[in-house]
Amino acid sequence: MIVLVTGGAGYIGSHTCVELINAGYEVVVLDSFINSKEESIKRIENITGKTVVLVKGDVRDKDCLRSIFKNYSINAVIHFSGLKAVGESVANPLKYYDYNVMGSLALTEIMAEFNVKNLVFSSSATVYGFSDNKPIPETSQLSPFNPYGQSKRMVEQILEDLSKSDASWNIALLRYFNPVGAHKSGMIGEDPNGIPNNLMPFVSQVAAGKLKELSIFGNDYPTKDGTGVRDYIHVVDLALGHIAALKKLNGLMIINLGAGAGYSVLDLVHTFEKTTGIKIPFKIVNRRPGDIAIYFADATMAKEKLGWQTKYSLEDICRDSWHWQSKNPNGYNT
Ligand code: NAD
Ligand code: UFG
Repeated sequence: MIVLVTGGAGYIGSHTCVELINAGYEVVVLDSFINSKEESIKRIENITGKTVVLVKGDVRDKDCLRSIFKNYSINAVIHFSGLKAVGESVANPLKYYDYNVMGSLALTEIMAEFNVKNLVFSSSATVYGFSDNKPIPETSQLSPFNPYGQSKRMVEQILEDLSKSDASWNIALLRYFNPVGAHKSGMIGEDPNGIPNNLMPFVSQVAAGKLKELSIFGNDYPTKDGTGVRDYIHVVDLALGHIAALKKLNGLMIINLGAGAGYSVLDLVHTFEKTTGIKIPFKIVNRRPGDIAIYFADATMAKEKLGWQTKYSLEDICRDSWHWQSKNPNGYNT
């Protein structure tokens, strides 16, 4: 079975390619490398010992998509490609709607043209916005509050309508919580540009001495220690969730992928210190605008519908993040 992986060179895509190949799938990657490096494809090949077919191109380019479906007998698509920086989406919403919405439209249009109707889509828990439910089930109200989140919800809506219009489509909308960690080989991992916005890569770079100290955004939230609580999911667990979804594709499925447990910023910092033996200097600063106190998944549906649940702990996440960071101090530029 051949799977087209758009954005397969990126953080989650590269880990998913490894697990797809391990599970016996053949993989064709489409990536423009707007936010990744070709080196990640070489590393996927090194880890798996298998060749990855790589098409360098843009998912919005319908001719490029047509040539892929003509040249390879694609059975299913996992659609990761898109832009994901919340702040940038606020500053440049048109770019986000173009990449994320138009890219998904072009892809589904060409899939329909070639009668390939099996699709797994990368959505985000950000579609829930300021949810009152804790943990958050899939049935929660949706109220994304930035253009990035809106773009994900728009694509979800398009795919829901598509599924209603034509029952031969099989679509999984996977809402990820906070993907973190790296492959245990330390060969692939998250490689953010510039100073990281997200907690885990920031902590790793403080540990490596690249950044002086962590700023913790607020310790006055209504949580056990006052710092924000999130559902951190190991990227390999997330990758395995995609394979479970691919195997169970049947009609429309909307599923949270999270551990179903919340950890605070201080939990993560202390676990990192305990696991690696490295002290993380930090200071408490003001809350970051737009941040939510507590956000974690109700992961029941994934267990029931996909037979999937996370198996890696916060310790595993910290150990594997540090392994990747210490082996690749400059990411894929090392
Ligand atoms: P990433 O930036 O590492 O990977 C995305 C990949 O898509 C990159 O390799 C990039 O070069 C490629 N790409 C972007 N636009 C493209 C285009 N028009 N044509 C072809 N390739 C293109 O991001 P990631 O963390 O691996 O995220 C993958 C998906 O998961 C994204 O859709 C993202 O929105 C979603 N998601 C990520 C997170 C997270 O925290 N990482 C959380 C929820 C959802
Ligand atoms: N945090 C800090 N200091 C930092 C970075 C983060 O204290 O330098 C805190 C945040 O305040 C939050 C927690 O660490 O409490 C996690 O923050 P992240 O930036 O790592 O993750 P978020 O939950 O804010 O955002 C992530 C993705 C978004 C996505 C959202 C919901 O980055 O794209 O999850 O799925 F929209």
